Amino acid sequence: MELITDPAELQNSLDQMRADGKSIGLVPTMGFLHRGHLSLIKRAVAENDVVITTIFVNPLQFAANEDLSTYPRDIEKDSSLCLEAGTTKLFTPANEEMFCDTVLTSISVTVLSSVLEGITRPTHFSGVATVVSKLFNIVGPCRSYFGEKDWQQLQIIKKMVTDLSYRVEVIGCPIIRDDDGLALSSRNVYLSDDEREVAAIIPQALHYAHGKVKSGERQSQLLKDSIIEQLQKSSLVSIDYVEVVNGDSLEPVTTVDAQTRILVAVRVGSARLIDNINALVGINTA
Ligand code: PAJ
Repeated sequence: MELITDPAELQNSLDQMRADGKSIGLVPTMGFLHRGHLSLIKRAVAENDVVITTIFVNPLQFAANEDLSTYPRDIEKDSSLCLEAGTTKLFTPANEEMFCDTVLTSISVTVLSSVLEGITRPTHFSGVATVVSKLFNIVGPCRSYFGEKDWQQLQIIKKMVTDLSYRVEVIGCPIIRDDDGLALSSRNVYLSDDEREVAAIIPQALHYAHGKVKSGERQSQLLKDSIIEQLQKSSLVSIDYVEVVNGDSLEPVTTVDAQTRILVAVRVGSARLIDNINALVGINTA
């Protein structure tokens, strides 16, 4: 595995590899890798000749009051996990290498970015779209892998690629969960032991709602109410939102169909956790 920090060097070496007929897989991450990230890397390895994993804690996507300075990092462990998973090139640019000057350009995928997460994090997705756009320009034509864990992010990246004609195939990958169902997240380290135990209530509440859908319930409001009722069983959990939406447009729906996604965001202690399911399919067991 080759370590690269210089964007121009990565750009040039990948141009050469494409000229040699190699297919390129890209997995953008902010590091502190877990099995969720590794599932994306392994999928990219299975489907491409060359796999680039990027680790960059992107300042553009953190608001001033968020956890940029404390975001967990462990580059040594990440490197060995990337190597094990089959990464060909690990790209870890320093801040100054990615954004060598004040950044004046911003990609904004409107409408999709202002709902759900966008309500409490209004600048977040333009930060995500801008850095991912830059990574796509550095890496060039490729397949790029994103987790369904960040469902809204995935829809925003797909729309950006369509709207701006990037030569990138965006591939969504299933959510990887802990044994008790909690979606893996780098931010789970913020949870105390008690909070970690309580956090399992999130997938349980989604599972409960899916059970209702399986028994014939189709009214979004009733599903929302049942999830809120489940989550409120713990005093450690405070709900940011529970929404039942069309999975592509992210617009609220009144009745459930095959495209319906249920998304939740809650705070448990100092951690803000998100999760989602397809209402008809339920919790994946990947
Ligand atoms: P990060 O949170 O590190 O996640 C990197 C990728 O891993 C994202 O596509 C995310 O959806 C996926 N992922 C995280 N947890 C997962 C899980 N439990 N199962 C499956 N996939 C999971 O998302 C970001 O970084 C950043 O916003 C980024 C896209 C890198 C732009 O800075």
